[in-house]
Amino acid sequence: MLHDNLSINKEGHLCFAGLDTVLLAKKYGTPLFLIDEDRVRKNARTYINAMRKYFGGDSGPLLASKALCFSEMYRIAASEGMRTDIVSPGELYIAHKSGFPMGRAFFHGNNKTDEDIAYAIECGIGYFVADNREELEEINRVAAKKGIKQKIILRLSPGIDPHTHAKISTGKVDSKFGSAIETGQADEMVQLSLSLENIALDGFHCHIGSQIFECEPFCDAADIMLSYVAHVKESFGFEAKTLNLGGGFGVRYVEEDPYIDYAENIKKIASHVNAKCEALKINKPTVLMEPGRSIVADAGMTLYTVGTVKTITGYKTYVSIDGGMTDNPRYALYQSKYTFEIANKASEEKVLDCTVAGRCCESGDLLGEDVKLQNAERGDILATLVTGAYNYSMSSNYNKIPRPPVVMISGGVDRVAVRRETYADLARLDV
Ligand code: LLP
Repeated sequence: MLHDNLSINKEGHLCFAGLDTVLLAKKYGTPLFLIDEDRVRKNARTYINAMRKYFGGDSGPLLASKALCFSEMYRIAASEGMRTDIVSPGELYIAHKSGFPMGRAFFHGNNKTDEDIAYAIECGIGYFVADNREELEEINRVAAKKGIKQKIILRLSPGIDPHTHAKISTGKVDSKFGSAIETGQADEMVQLSLSLENIALDGFHCHIGSQIFECEPFCDAADIMLSYVAHVKESFGFEAKTLNLGGGFGVRYVEEDPYIDYAENIKKIASHVNAKCEALKINKPTVLMEPGRSIVADAGMTLYTVGTVKTITGYKTYVSIDGGMTDNPRYALYQSKYTFEIANKASEEKVLDCTVAGRCCESGDLLGEDVKLQNAERGDILATLVTGAYNYSMSSNYNKIPRPPVVMISGGVDRVAVRRETYADLARLDV
Protein backbone atom coordinates (compact mmCIF):
# COMPACT_ATOMS: atom_id res chain seq x y z
CA MET A 1 0.00 0.00 0.00
CA LEU A 2 0.88 3.69 -0.14
CA HIS A 3 2.77 3.67 3.20
CA ASP A 4 3.84 0.82 5.46
CA ASN A 5 1.58 1.78 8.36
CA LEU A 6 -1.36 0.62 6.18
CA SER A 7 -2.48 -2.98 5.80
CA ILE A 8 -5.55 -5.16 5.28
CA ASN A 9 -6.57 -7.77 7.86
CA LYS A 10 -8.23 -11.15 7.31
CA GLU A 11 -11.72 -9.58 7.55
CA GLY A 12 -10.73 -7.47 4.56
CA HIS A 13 -10.70 -4.33 6.70
CA LEU A 14 -8.22 -1.50 6.29
CA CYS A 15 -5.79 -1.33 9.21
CA PHE A 16 -3.81 1.74 10.27
CA ALA A 17 -0.88 1.67 12.68
CA GLY A 18 -1.84 -1.96 13.36
CA LEU A 19 -5.50 -1.26 14.28
CA ASP A 20 -8.70 -2.15 12.42
CA THR A 21 -10.14 1.16 11.18
CA VAL A 22 -13.68 -0.20 10.98
CA LEU A 23 -13.56 -0.95 14.71
CA LEU A 24 -12.06 2.49 15.43
CA ALA A 25 -14.89 4.12 13.44
CA LYS A 26 -17.40 2.15 15.55
CA LYS A 27 -15.68 3.02 18.80
CA TYR A 28 -15.28 6.76 18.23
CA GLY A 29 -17.86 7.56 15.52
CA THR A 30 -17.16 9.44 12.30
CA PRO A 31 -15.77 11.70 10.97
CA LEU A 32 -12.62 10.79 12.80
CA PHE A 33 -8.98 11.84 12.50
CA LEU A 34 -6.43 9.17 13.32
CA ILE A 35 -2.79 10.01 14.02
CA ASP A 36 -0.10 7.34 14.16
CA GLU A 37 2.14 8.70 16.91
CA ASP A 38 4.85 6.13 16.24
CA ARG A 39 5.03 7.34 12.63
CA VAL A 40 5.28 10.98 13.71
CA ARG A 41 8.20 10.05 15.98
CA LYS A 42 9.84 7.91 13.30
CA ASN A 43 9.65 10.73 10.75
CA ALA A 44 10.95 13.22 13.31
CA ARG A 45 13.91 10.95 14.15
CA THR A 46 14.76 10.59 10.47
CA TYR A 47 15.29 14.36 10.34
CA ILE A 48 16.93 14.59 13.78
CA ASN A 49 19.46 11.84 13.07
CA ALA A 50 20.23 12.81 9.47
CA MET A 51 20.66 16.49 10.28
CA ARG A 52 22.88 15.77 13.27
CA LYS A 53 24.97 13.35 11.23
CA TYR A 54 25.36 15.34 8.02
CA PHE A 55 25.18 18.98 9.14
CA GLY A 56 26.75 18.35 12.54
CA GLY A 57 26.75 20.55 15.63
CA ASP A 58 23.40 21.52 16.99
CA SER A 59 21.71 21.31 13.56
CA GLY A 60 18.23 19.81 13.55
CA PRO A 61 14.58 20.10 12.52
CA LEU A 62 11.89 22.39 13.94
CA LEU A 63 8.41 20.93 13.85
CA ALA A 64 6.35 23.26 11.64
CA SER A 65 3.40 22.96 13.97
CA LYS A 66 0.97 24.68 11.60
CA ALA A 67 0.75 21.33 9.79
CA LEU A 68 -0.84 19.66 12.83
CA CYS A 69 -1.39 21.67 15.97
CA PHE A 70 -2.70 20.54 19.34
CA SER A 71 -1.11 20.13 22.77
CA GLU A 72 -0.05 16.53 22.37
CA MET A 73 1.94 17.37 19.24
CA TYR A 74 4.05 19.89 21.16
CA ARG A 75 4.59 17.32 23.92
CA ILE A 76 5.76 14.79 21.34
CA ALA A 77 8.07 17.34 19.70
CA ALA A 78 9.49 18.29 23.10
CA SER A 79 10.05 14.66 24.10
CA GLU A 80 11.98 14.10 20.85
CA GLY A 81 14.13 17.11 21.70
CA MET A 82 12.84 18.98 18.65
CA ARG A 83 12.50 22.72 18.34
CA THR A 84 9.26 24.09 16.95
CA ASP A 85 8.08 26.75 14.55
CA ILE A 86 4.91 28.65 15.48
CA VAL A 87 3.10 31.16 13.33
CA SER A 88 0.49 32.81 15.51
CA PRO A 89 -0.23 33.77 19.10
CA GLY A 90 -2.75 30.90 19.15
CA GLU A 91 -0.08 28.34 18.35
CA LEU A 92 2.17 30.08 20.84
CA TYR A 93 -0.49 29.77 23.54
CA ILE A 94 -0.95 26.05 22.94
CA ALA A 95 2.79 25.38 22.82
CA HIS A 96 3.33 27.32 26.04
CA LYS A 97 0.35 25.76 27.83
CA SER A 98 1.44 22.26 26.84
CA GLY A 99 4.81 22.84 28.51
CA PHE A 100 6.93 23.15 25.38
CA PRO A 101 10.32 24.72 26.28
CA MET A 102 9.70 28.15 24.76
CA GLY A 103 13.42 28.87 24.38
CA ARG A 104 13.29 26.31 21.58
CA ALA A 105 10.36 27.97 19.77
CA PHE A 106 10.69 30.20 16.71
CA PHE A 107 7.93 32.74 16.10
CA HIS A 108 7.08 33.29 12.43
CA GLY A 109 4.68 35.58 10.63
CA ASN A 110 4.64 38.48 8.21
CA ASN A 111 2.42 40.61 10.42
CA LYS A 112 2.95 40.08 14.10
CA THR A 113 0.95 42.63 16.06
CA ASP A 114 2.32 44.60 19.00
CA GLU A 115 0.23 42.35 21.27
CA ASP A 116 1.73 39.22 19.64
CA ILE A 117 5.25 40.53 20.16
CA ALA A 118 4.66 41.43 23.81
CA TYR A 119 2.98 38.07 24.47
CA ALA A 120 5.80 36.09 22.84
CA ILE A 121 8.45 37.92 24.84
CA GLU A 122 6.40 37.41 28.00
CA CYS A 123 6.31 33.65 27.27
CA GLY A 124 10.10 33.61 26.79
CA ILE A 125 10.11 32.90 23.07
CA GLY A 126 13.54 31.70 21.92
CA TYR A 127 13.68 33.44 18.56
CA PHE A 128 11.60 35.72 16.43
CA VAL A 129 11.85 34.97 12.74
CA ALA A 130 11.70 38.68 12.03
CA ASP A 131 9.97 39.66 8.83
CA ASN A 132 10.01 43.44 8.56
CA ARG A 133 11.23 46.76 9.90
CA GLU A 134 8.18 47.58 12.00
CA GLU A 135 8.43 44.24 13.74
CA LEU A 136 12.13 44.70 14.53
CA GLU A 137 11.52 48.12 16.06
CA GLU A 138 8.68 46.82 18.22
CA ILE A 139 10.68 43.78 19.40
CA ASN A 140 13.51 46.12 20.30
CA ARG A 141 11.17 48.42 22.23
CA VAL A 142 9.57 45.61 24.27
CA ALA A 143 12.91 43.86 24.87
CA ALA A 144 14.41 47.15 26.10
CA LYS A 145 11.54 47.60 28.53
CA LYS A 146 12.16 44.10 29.84
CA GLY A 147 15.90 44.64 29.93
CA ILE A 148 16.72 41.71 27.66
CA LYS A 149 18.43 41.19 24.33
CA GLN A 150 15.95 39.27 22.16
CA LYS A 151 17.38 36.74 19.73
CA ILE A 152 16.09 36.90 16.18
CA ILE A 153 16.80 35.44 12.79
CA LEU A 154 15.85 37.41 9.71
CA ARG A 155 13.50 35.96 7.13
CA LEU A 156 14.84 36.57 3.65
CA SER A 157 13.45 35.72 0.24
CA PRO A 158 16.11 34.11 -1.89
CA GLY A 159 14.10 34.47 -5.12
CA ILE A 160 13.55 30.78 -5.84
CA ASP A 161 10.58 29.26 -7.61
CA PRO A 162 10.45 25.58 -6.63
CA HIS A 163 7.71 24.60 -9.14
CA THR A 164 5.04 23.72 -6.67
CA HIS A 165 1.45 24.98 -6.41
CA ALA A 166 1.49 28.81 -6.61
CA LYS A 167 -0.36 29.16 -3.29
CA ILE A 168 2.27 27.15 -1.42
CA SER A 169 5.34 28.70 -3.04
CA THR A 170 6.76 31.37 -0.74
CA GLY A 171 10.39 32.13 -1.51
CA LYS A 172 9.97 34.29 -4.62
CA VAL A 173 11.16 37.91 -4.63
CA ASP A 174 7.61 39.27 -4.69
CA SER A 175 6.45 37.04 -1.82
CA LYS A 176 4.66 38.68 1.09
CA PHE A 177 7.16 36.99 3.41
CA GLY A 178 10.52 38.36 4.46
CA SER A 179 12.93 40.73 2.76
CA ALA A 180 14.35 40.20 -0.68
CA ILE A 181 18.08 39.82 -1.10
CA GLU A 182 17.88 40.96 -4.72
CA THR A 183 16.33 44.37 -3.97
CA GLY A 184 18.78 45.32 -1.23
CA GLN A 185 16.07 45.27 1.42
CA ALA A 186 17.72 42.34 3.18
CA ASP A 187 20.81 44.52 3.70
CA GLU A 188 18.66 47.25 5.23
CA MET A 189 17.19 44.73 7.67
CA VAL A 190 20.63 43.43 8.64
CA GLN A 191 21.91 46.95 9.29
CA LEU A 192 18.84 47.81 11.32
CA SER A 193 19.07 44.58 13.36
CA LEU A 194 22.74 45.19 14.11
CA SER A 195 22.02 48.77 15.16
CA LEU A 196 19.22 47.95 17.59
CA GLU A 197 20.45 47.70 21.15
CA ASN A 198 18.08 45.01 22.40
CA ILE A 199 18.14 42.74 19.39
CA ALA A 200 20.63 39.90 18.95
CA LEU A 201 20.82 38.84 15.32
CA ASP A 202 21.62 35.14 15.14
CA GLY A 203 21.24 34.29 11.47
CA PHE A 204 18.93 33.96 8.51
CA HIS A 205 15.87 32.05 7.38
CA CYS A 206 14.25 31.20 4.08
CA HIS A 207 11.38 28.95 3.06
CA ILE A 208 10.91 28.30 -0.62
CA GLY A 209 7.63 26.38 -0.71
CA SER A 210 5.88 23.15 0.07
CA GLN A 211 5.39 19.65 -1.44
CA ILE A 212 8.84 19.71 -3.10
CA PHE A 213 10.23 16.35 -4.24
CA GLU A 214 13.84 17.16 -5.15
CA CYS A 215 16.75 18.54 -3.17
CA GLU A 216 17.92 20.90 -5.95
CA PRO A 217 15.68 23.85 -4.99
CA PHE A 218 16.99 23.54 -1.41
CA CYS A 219 20.59 23.47 -2.66
CA ASP A 220 19.90 26.51 -4.83
CA ALA A 221 18.37 28.32 -1.87
CA ALA A 222 21.32 27.32 0.34
CA ASP A 223 23.74 28.70 -2.29
CA ILE A 224 22.02 32.05 -2.33
CA MET A 225 21.70 32.20 1.45
CA LEU A 226 25.33 31.22 2.08
CA SER A 227 26.59 33.72 -0.47
CA TYR A 228 24.53 36.23 1.41
CA VAL A 229 26.09 35.14 4.71
CA ALA A 230 29.52 35.76 3.12
CA HIS A 231 28.40 39.14 1.80
CA VAL A 232 27.11 40.21 5.23
CA LYS A 233 30.36 39.08 6.85
CA GLU A 234 32.33 41.11 4.36
CA SER A 235 30.12 44.20 4.34
CA PHE A 236 28.90 44.44 7.92
CA GLY A 237 31.34 42.30 9.90
CA PHE A 238 28.57 39.99 11.11
CA GLU A 239 28.85 36.22 10.63
CA ALA A 240 25.60 34.29 10.88
CA LYS A 241 25.54 31.45 13.40
CA THR A 242 22.26 29.97 12.19
CA LEU A 243 20.87 29.20 8.76
CA ASN A 244 17.28 28.00 8.64
CA LEU A 245 16.37 26.49 5.26
CA GLY A 246 12.65 26.17 5.98
CA GLY A 247 10.37 23.25 5.31
CA GLY A 248 8.84 21.84 2.22
CA PHE A 249 9.80 18.27 1.43
CA GLY A 250 6.99 16.47 -0.39
CA VAL A 251 4.86 13.53 0.65
CA ARG A 252 3.35 10.62 -1.25
CA TYR A 253 -0.44 11.13 -1.33
CA VAL A 254 -1.26 8.99 -4.38
CA GLU A 255 0.43 6.13 -6.25
CA GLU A 256 1.74 8.54 -8.94
CA ASP A 257 3.69 10.56 -6.35
CA PRO A 258 7.32 9.52 -5.93
CA TYR A 259 8.83 8.03 -2.79
CA ILE A 260 11.30 10.38 -1.19
CA ASP A 261 14.20 9.39 1.04
CA TYR A 262 14.51 12.35 3.42
CA ALA A 263 17.79 11.23 4.99
CA GLU A 264 19.39 10.81 1.55
CA ASN A 265 18.21 14.25 0.47
CA ILE A 266 19.44 15.84 3.70
CA LYS A 267 22.81 14.21 3.08
CA LYS A 268 22.96 15.78 -0.40
CA ILE A 269 21.95 19.23 0.86
CA ALA A 270 24.52 18.97 3.66
CA SER A 271 27.39 18.07 1.36
CA HIS A 272 26.36 20.97 -0.86
CA VAL A 273 26.26 23.34 2.13
CA ASN A 274 29.58 22.12 3.52
CA ALA A 275 31.34 22.56 0.15
CA LYS A 276 29.84 26.00 -0.32
CA CYS A 277 30.96 27.14 3.16
CA GLU A 278 34.49 26.04 2.37
CA ALA A 279 34.47 27.81 -0.99
CA LEU A 280 33.17 31.00 0.59
CA LYS A 281 35.55 30.71 3.57
CA ILE A 282 32.78 31.08 6.12
CA ASN A 283 32.13 29.01 9.24
CA LYS A 284 29.57 26.25 8.88
CA PRO A 285 26.38 27.61 10.48
CA THR A 286 23.99 25.55 12.60
CA VAL A 287 21.51 24.44 9.96
CA LEU A 288 17.81 24.23 10.81
CA MET A 289 14.93 22.94 8.72
CA GLU A 290 11.20 23.26 9.36
CA PRO A 291 9.43 20.14 8.15
CA GLY A 292 5.68 19.98 8.71
CA ARG A 293 4.03 17.86 6.05
CA SER A 294 6.82 15.29 5.84
CA ILE A 295 6.64 14.68 9.62
CA VAL A 296 2.88 14.33 9.99
CA ALA A 297 1.13 13.68 6.67
CA ASP A 298 1.59 9.91 6.38
CA ALA A 299 0.87 9.64 10.11
CA GLY A 300 -2.75 10.64 9.46
CA MET A 301 -5.97 9.15 8.17
CA THR A 302 -9.57 10.38 8.18
CA LEU A 303 -12.57 8.07 8.50
CA TYR A 304 -16.08 8.97 7.35
CA THR A 305 -19.40 7.19 6.98
CA VAL A 306 -20.84 6.99 3.49
CA GLY A 307 -24.36 8.43 3.24
CA THR A 308 -25.89 9.15 -0.14
CA VAL A 309 -24.59 7.42 -3.26
CA LYS A 310 -26.12 9.31 -6.16
CA THR A 311 -25.65 8.46 -9.83
CA ILE A 312 -26.64 11.15 -12.29
CA THR A 313 -27.32 8.93 -15.27
CA GLY A 314 -24.89 9.55 -18.08
CA TYR A 315 -22.82 11.95 -15.95
CA LYS A 316 -21.29 10.98 -12.67
CA THR A 317 -21.68 9.27 -9.31
CA TYR A 318 -21.40 11.21 -6.07
CA VAL A 319 -20.39 9.35 -2.94
CA SER A 320 -21.31 11.70 -0.09
CA ILE A 321 -19.76 11.44 3.33
CA ASP A 322 -20.44 12.93 6.77
CA GLY A 323 -17.51 15.39 6.61
CA GLY A 324 -15.85 17.29 3.77
CA MET A 325 -14.17 20.65 3.25
CA THR A 326 -14.70 21.48 6.93
CA ASP A 327 -12.20 18.78 7.95
CA ASN A 328 -10.19 18.71 4.71
CA PRO A 329 -10.33 21.88 2.58
CA ARG A 330 -7.31 20.89 0.48
CA TYR A 331 -9.15 19.68 -2.61
CA ALA A 332 -11.40 22.74 -2.59
CA LEU A 333 -8.38 25.03 -2.16
CA TYR A 334 -5.60 23.38 -4.15
CA GLN A 335 -7.18 20.43 -6.00
CA SER A 336 -4.91 18.23 -3.90
CA LYS A 337 -5.15 14.55 -4.74
CA TYR A 338 -5.81 11.87 -2.13
CA THR A 339 -6.17 8.11 -2.05
CA PHE A 340 -9.50 6.75 -0.81
CA GLU A 341 -10.51 3.29 0.38
CA ILE A 342 -13.77 1.78 1.57
CA ALA A 343 -12.30 0.56 4.85
CA ASN A 344 -14.74 -2.32 5.34
CA LYS A 345 -14.18 -3.53 1.74
CA ALA A 346 -10.45 -2.83 1.44
CA SER A 347 -9.65 -6.16 -0.17
CA GLU A 348 -12.30 -5.73 -2.87
CA GLU A 349 -11.49 -4.40 -6.30
CA LYS A 350 -12.02 -0.72 -7.02
CA VAL A 351 -14.85 -0.74 -9.58
CA LEU A 352 -16.55 2.60 -8.98
CA ASP A 353 -15.59 5.86 -10.69
CA CYS A 354 -16.91 8.63 -8.52
CA THR A 355 -16.68 12.06 -6.98
CA VAL A 356 -16.31 12.10 -3.20
CA ALA A 357 -18.51 14.91 -1.89
CA GLY A 358 -18.76 16.53 1.52
CA ARG A 359 -21.92 17.55 3.34
CA CYS A 360 -21.65 21.34 3.11
CA CYS A 361 -24.05 23.55 1.18
CA GLU A 362 -21.34 24.37 -1.33
CA SER A 363 -20.85 22.70 -4.74
CA GLY A 364 -17.09 23.01 -4.33
CA ASP A 365 -17.20 20.89 -1.18
CA LEU A 366 -15.48 17.88 -2.73
CA LEU A 367 -12.66 15.69 -1.47
CA GLY A 368 -11.80 14.28 -4.88
CA GLU A 369 -12.97 13.82 -8.46
CA ASP A 370 -12.25 10.92 -10.79
CA VAL A 371 -11.79 8.75 -7.73
CA LYS A 372 -11.59 4.95 -8.04
CA LEU A 373 -13.35 3.23 -5.17
CA GLN A 374 -14.66 -0.14 -4.07
CA ASN A 375 -18.42 -0.38 -4.57
CA ALA A 376 -19.81 2.15 -2.06
CA GLU A 377 -23.07 1.94 -0.14
CA ARG A 378 -24.71 3.86 2.70
CA GLY A 379 -23.12 2.85 6.00
CA ASP A 380 -19.71 1.99 4.55
CA ILE A 381 -16.62 3.55 6.14
CA LEU A 382 -14.63 5.70 3.75
CA ALA A 383 -10.97 6.34 4.57
CA THR A 384 -8.92 9.21 3.15
CA LEU A 385 -5.26 8.31 3.45
CA VAL A 386 -2.33 10.59 4.30
CA THR A 387 -4.36 13.37 5.95
CA GLY A 388 -2.01 14.16 8.86
CA ALA A 389 -0.87 17.50 7.44
CA TYR A 390 -3.01 20.60 6.95
CA ASN A 391 -6.32 18.79 7.53
CA TYR A 392 -7.11 19.04 11.24
CA SER A 393 -5.11 22.27 11.38
CA MET A 394 -7.12 23.80 8.51
CA SER A 395 -10.50 22.50 9.64
CA SER A 396 -13.39 24.90 10.19
CA ASN A 397 -16.94 25.06 11.50
CA TYR A 398 -18.47 26.23 8.22
CA ASN A 399 -22.18 25.31 8.15
CA LYS A 400 -21.78 24.85 11.90
CA ILE A 401 -20.27 21.42 11.46
CA PRO A 402 -18.39 20.29 14.58
CA ARG A 403 -14.74 19.33 14.14
CA PRO A 404 -13.92 15.62 14.43
CA PRO A 405 -11.83 14.33 17.31
CA VAL A 406 -8.19 13.33 16.92
CA VAL A 407 -7.38 9.83 18.11
CA MET A 408 -3.72 8.96 18.49
CA ILE A 409 -2.35 5.47 18.15
CA SER A 410 0.87 4.38 19.76
CA GLY A 411 2.15 0.83 20.23
CA GLY A 412 -1.22 -0.49 19.04
CA VAL A 413 -3.13 1.48 21.70
CA ASP A 414 -5.60 4.25 20.77
CA ARG A 415 -6.39 7.32 22.87
CA VAL A 416 -8.21 10.62 22.36
CA ALA A 417 -5.82 13.56 21.90
CA VAL A 418 -8.50 16.10 20.92
CA ARG A 419 -12.13 15.42 21.78
CA ARG A 420 -14.99 15.75 19.31
CA GLU A 421 -16.62 19.17 19.21
CA THR A 422 -20.19 19.22 20.46
CA TYR A 423 -23.12 21.37 19.31
CA ALA A 424 -22.72 23.20 22.62
CA ASP A 425 -19.10 24.00 21.63
CA LEU A 426 -20.46 25.58 18.47
CA ALA A 427 -22.64 27.95 20.46
CA ARG A 428 -20.24 28.66 23.32
CA LEU A 429 -19.04 32.04 22.05
CA ASP A 430 -22.50 33.35 21.17
CA VAL A 431 -23.85 35.98 23.56
N1 LLP B 1 8.34 26.88 7.38
C1 LLP B 1 7.63 27.91 6.89
C2 LLP B 1 8.14 29.26 7.07
C3 LLP B 1 6.43 27.66 6.22
O1 LLP B 1 5.76 28.68 5.71
C4 LLP B 1 5.96 26.33 6.09
C5 LLP B 1 4.71 26.06 5.42
C6 LLP B 1 6.72 25.29 6.64
C7 LLP B 1 7.92 25.59 7.28
C8 LLP B 1 6.32 23.84 6.56
O2 LLP B 1 6.26 23.41 5.25
P1 LLP B 1 6.00 21.85 4.95
O3 LLP B 1 7.21 21.07 5.40
O4 LLP B 1 4.79 21.45 5.72
O5 LLP B 1 5.78 21.81 3.49
N2 LLP B 1 -1.79 24.67 3.63
C9 LLP B 1 -0.92 24.23 2.56
C10 LLP B 1 0.51 24.28 2.96
C11 LLP B 1 0.95 25.65 3.37
C12 LLP B 1 2.36 25.65 3.82
C13 LLP B 1 2.66 26.93 4.50
N3 LLP B 1 3.97 27.00 5.01
C14 LLP B 1 -1.30 22.82 2.14
O6 LLP B 1 -2.25 22.28 2.69
O7 LLP B 1 -0.67 22.27 1.25
